Amino acid sequence: MLRYVRPHAASLTLVFVLALLGAAFELARPWPLKVVVDYVLVGQALPAWLAGLAGLLPYADSPRGLLLWAVVAGAVTVIGSVLTMLVVRMIIVTVAQRMVFDLSREVFARLQRLSLSFHGRHAVGDLVQRVGQDVFVVQGVLSAVALPAIVAALSLVGMFMIMSRLDLTLALVAVAVVPLMLAALAVFGRQMTASSTRQWQTQGAMMAFLQQSLSAVPAIQGFARERYVQRKLEERGDDLLDAHNQATFVSLRYNQATVLITGLGTAVLLGLGGARVLDGHLSAGDLLVFLAYLAALYAPLNSVTTSIGAGVAAVTRGRRVFEVLDSQEEVPERPQPVELIRARGEVVFDDVTFGYWQNQDEEALPVLEQISLRAEPGQITAIVGATGAGKSSLISLLVRFYDPWSGSVRIDGHDLRDLSLRSLRENVSLVLQETFLFPMSVAENIAFGRPEASRAEIVEAARAAHAHRFIERLPEGYDTQIGEKGATLSGGERQRIAIARAILKDAPILILDEPTSALDAHTEAQIFEAISHLMKNSTTFIISHRLSTIRRADQILALENGRLAEQGTHESLLAAGRVYAHLYKHQHLAAL
Ligand code: UTP
Ligand code: MG
Repeated sequence: MLRYVRPHAASLTLVFVLALLGAAFELARPWPLKVVVDYVLVGQALPAWLAGLAGLLPYADSPRGLLLWAVVAGAVTVIGSVLTMLVVRMIIVTVAQRMVFDLSREVFARLQRLSLSFHGRHAVGDLVQRVGQDVFVVQGVLSAVALPAIVAALSLVGMFMIMSRLDLTLALVAVAVVPLMLAALAVFGRQMTASSTRQWQTQGAMMAFLQQSLSAVPAIQGFARERYVQRKLEERGDDLLDAHNQATFVSLRYNQATVLITGLGTAVLLGLGGARVLDGHLSAGDLLVFLAYLAALYAPLNSVTTSIGAGVAAVTRGRRVFEVLDSQEEVPERPQPVELIRARGEVVFDDVTFGYWQNQDEEALPVLEQISLRAEPGQITAIVGATGAGKSSLISLLVRFYDPWSGSVRIDGHDLRDLSLRSLRENVSLVLQETFLFPMSVAENIAFGRPEASRAEIVEAARAAHAHRFIERLPEGYDTQIGEKGATLSGGERQRIAIARAILKDAPILILDEPTSALDAHTEAQIFEAISHLMKNSTTFIISHRLSTIRRADQILALENGRLAEQGTHESLLAAGRVYAHLYKHQHLAAL
């Protein structure tokens, strides 16, 4: 965390200096009390230095005048202390907010870079909680932990020095509570860590549940399962309440224990100190100063122990934030990666075996086994196979969403692991099986892969994707804002925007994962007609269940249970009479 503190070193040094000043005001606060009791009420003679000072002030030679000046001095110390703490708090808050924002920004940047395996393991809601809420931990650490700890430590030292000059024995008794406080911390610290870890985990799980169920509202309503989901929410709510209560109860017990310790300490000192005054070792005013110091000392001591409690919570939330920041990249770049400017587009899979969950689960089975293939620039490769055969997995290796367990994927002879991720992905146009639209305008969605594209280019891409006509009919045409996940568009409209996006990007490698599954056969044929020149200039991979699409491919790969069962052209595979011929026969009959 220190890394985030360093840029604010100057402000924090100022805070430290001001905190010193504040501590000095605190130290001065009880002294007017002594003046009033000992010199005004009891009528003792003023010590030499005070008499000298009183000589300089008007009216200070009478008891009432002295009383007035003591009150003025008291007011000055209070105002001074209040103003310094106000400034200190304002600086701390400003610095802390900035740090929260910096941290949040960095966590978000990190989340964007982390691989799909990472995102596969973490719920969106939980990550939202981390990036939006848990980052406030830095603010807590500064204002509830560091500041009180500094103020308390400074006052502790100053007060102990002054108290020990008044009466050493009493001063020693006064600080004897410190080890007791530490003992209480040792007893409760472990419980606090455990309960606060559970608290924030449950909170994250709750966010994940909310996020997932709110995005599934159509399904929930369609199945009339509102009550069921509500009940699930309430079960989680009970868990969450329980976790919050546990955490609060532990820290309450701890706080009350420290109050008890300091309260008993004050009682003992009142007894001892009273006896010292009776013996004539101490004046009544000294005892009052002593007791005021004691109260003033125990307050920061309490706040240090409280802030240690807050610190414990901070550590567990901080851990959630830094778990993200410290996650290792699962598709790391080489220190000096190759920058692929514009690829020719020769793609080779060399004996690739791949499965999900590489490190987490030893039992994981491969999803793709010993795949070898080759696609030349300008060629169209169709990938077919039953659902779950591994088609989408195959192309996700080509954009390096994941790395293969063994074997290699190469573009223009470069192993993907040698390329910079950015340059690799600049060379690929992608239509994913699941369409992602962003809460921006239609035009911005189409230009997502090439934000600098002109409006004319955007319209041209939309025309090729047969999207222009429906876009024009939208309320604000190309400037219509799309709702979250494209909620206001039909499935086919969304797909056509995604196709237009890929067309506009115009990269040497084009990947289409069932791009037209939601379109009617006629529209599909027209789109392929429109983008055929694009496919001539790039290496195209197309996954489709539509034989009309597949037939035009230069080579067809038939996957079966993660293995490459067959490879060839439409005619040769049909003649072979195996997997492809089987798929074809079924669809052909269905079409009749
Ligand atoms: P694919 O997603 O590669 O199958 O999953 P596919 O051929 O494209 O299937 P369709 O036609 O789109 O339906 C291959 C296997 O990998 C698993 C899936 O459960 C499936 O068994 N898989 C997929 C994972 O384990 N994790 C993932 O993130 C994705
Ligand atoms: Mg798929």
